[in-house]
Amino acid sequence: MGAGFAFLDRVRALKILFISPEVEPFVKVGGLADMVGALPKELAKLGHDVRVVCPAYGSIKGIAEWTARAEPLGVDVGSATHWARTWETVLPGTKVPAYFLENNGFFSRPEVYTSPWGACEDNDLRFTFFSRGALTLCQQLEWYPDVIHCHDWTTGLVPMMLNTTLRGTPLGRAATVLTIHNLEHQGYSPSRIIHFARLPWADFQRDGLVSGEMVNLMKAGLFHSTKLTTVSPTYAREIQTPDGGFGLDGVLRFRSGDLVGIVNGIDDESWDPARDRTLPANYSAADLAGKAGCKAKLQERFGLEVNPSVPIFGVVSRLAEQKGLDLLAEALPGILDRMKVQIVLLGNGDSRLENTFNWAAQAYKGSFGAHIGFDGKLARLIQAGSDFFIMPSRTEPCGLTQMYAMRYGTLPVVRATGGLKDTVENYVEGAEHGTGFVFNDPTVSALSNSVGWACATYYDRPKEMAGLQQRAMAMDLSWRHSASEYVNLYRWAVESRTGVFPG
Ligand code: ADP
Ligand code: GLC
Repeated sequence: MGAGFAFLDRVRALKILFISPEVEPFVKVGGLADMVGALPKELAKLGHDVRVVCPAYGSIKGIAEWTARAEPLGVDVGSATHWARTWETVLPGTKVPAYFLENNGFFSRPEVYTSPWGACEDNDLRFTFFSRGALTLCQQLEWYPDVIHCHDWTTGLVPMMLNTTLRGTPLGRAATVLTIHNLEHQGYSPSRIIHFARLPWADFQRDGLVSGEMVNLMKAGLFHSTKLTTVSPTYAREIQTPDGGFGLDGVLRFRSGDLVGIVNGIDDESWDPARDRTLPANYSAADLAGKAGCKAKLQERFGLEVNPSVPIFGVVSRLAEQKGLDLLAEALPGILDRMKVQIVLLGNGDSRLENTFNWAAQAYKGSFGAHIGFDGKLARLIQAGSDFFIMPSRTEPCGLTQMYAMRYGTLPVVRATGGLKDTVENYVEGAEHGTGFVFNDPTVSALSNSVGWACATYYDRPKEMAGLQQRAMAMDLSWRHSASEYVNLYRWAVESRTGVFPG
């Protein structure tokens, strides 16, 4: 792997299918959608035949304007065939086909994984139907991919289907790559799923995929996928340890020879402060004037004093334990009482944190603002209008928002974990080094000290602040490098699967 494979970009194009529960800009819960919306574009630019398949959730807008395939899709799951309608469009600005599988029972509801009452109880059935449906679609199209790229637990049974019931079919030649975006979510499912997926019981038992009455869908994928990736090199190491493996470190160590950490890129055409149409003003590293306009708009939007000289710290995040924002909630009073700063937060998820931040927005009116909800446009205004971006994550497989921040000249204040460690270089005072502020311990004091350090840099060392900003904006965070790494990995996977190197 690595540099020695550079010549391979000139050899045979691959057929690659992404099977994913989310894809930007159609349906997004988190960064998985960003990755699946962006990497295929880059692979297509390299000449590969890439396609994406995703469920047609009820929340997807404008679907009726797409083309529906005339032939219904009969998906063999459970005791009877279940039917899907296939909608077809392309990833915006590309010719990459994107297929969406519609089924009233499983996907007419708007939710992806969770309803207001918690995880959907039939998630195992929904995503198994989807996984099998995506494979059936290939059979219907008579389009047999070289590589099937799966994402997280929802697609964990795909590699197993290809290794068992479908192994002897033309689809069975496809190599599989499973990307772990977040090991915390493993898809524990009732064992009814084995019958529903029409998979052999014995394989589940042999590989320890069943525990009591439950099956671990992520673990099935980890066992069966030809190759495994995760979204940063540091996270690839962390998940092989008992502390970071969420119970699956043993399987991951067992498969370590097939596991690669490839850091995510960002779609730098969409996330470009010079061209982002959602911003009140555009700017670039060469001319930052527009950033001040974004800051003023942000302050106004959150009811803060419109003052260019007060530093603003932004947060855009799912409100989940993983993100460590409880540390920020606890640190807020100390920070806001001691320092002349403003903080804005956009997020949703954990209801206790939602309430805490809503309460804090009342208590610290004028210096702290919160918007509880999901709002793509506001997320961009925060990235552009802030001076700093806070991510105190306990674990962070990759993290995209710190990269969007750097691209927008906003300096990340992050904990050294997973992809945050791999993408943000810590500031060294007086040394013209760094792109952000990095701390080690997941504690209130470590976070507060880093915010204090960032704040002091802003007020006392404006030249160094400007240097940090220029270095952050000059980073190549695009998918170009990582897309080539994926191509190398795909070829390696094909060789392992078929015994023939795809040349
Ligand atoms: P994760 O996937 O763990 O949530 P990432 O940093 O990889 O973390 O990606 C999060 C993505 O979701 C980013 O594109 C971010 O802008 C977006 N996002 C998160 N929360 C919100 C929100 N409340 N409103 C709008 N976008 C959000
Ligand atoms: C997950 C991770 C996040 C990563 C994203 C895309 O949601 O929590 O760190 O950036 O997937 O891979």
